[in-house]
Amino acid sequence: MRVRTAQGEALQGLLHNQDEYTIHLLDVREQVRSFQRSGLADVVFPKQSLMPSFAKSLSAGQIDDVLAHLCGGKQ
Ligand code: HEM
Repeated sequence: MRVRTAQGEALQGLLHNQDEYTIHLLDVREQVRSFQRSGLADVVFPKQSLMPSFAKSLSAGQIDDVLAHLCGGKQ
């Protein structure tokens, strides 16, 4: 997710927690940053994951192997 404060600071990270008044983001240094919603100019949940893509470093077969391993299947 990405937030931009009313002062113009832009951050990205993972949504840690939120309620009606506050939003808490785990930033890229694994620090929890807490904001009042009223102090944020923008909150965006992009469709693109923050996780780096393995599409160019692993073949389709290797990705299948990782999935089989994670699902506890035979390799
Ligand atoms: C084979 C290795 C890996 C597997 C199977 C895996 C799997 C996953 C899955 C299922 C998710 C949740 C879905 C998503 O948010 O896209 C996820 C999220 C994430 N992964 Fe991985 N991951 C792997 C390696 C890595 C590595 C090497 C990194 C960092 C260099 C990484 C960083 C992240 C991040 C930052 C997220 C949160 C993305 C977001 O919510 O925007 N992952 N991973």
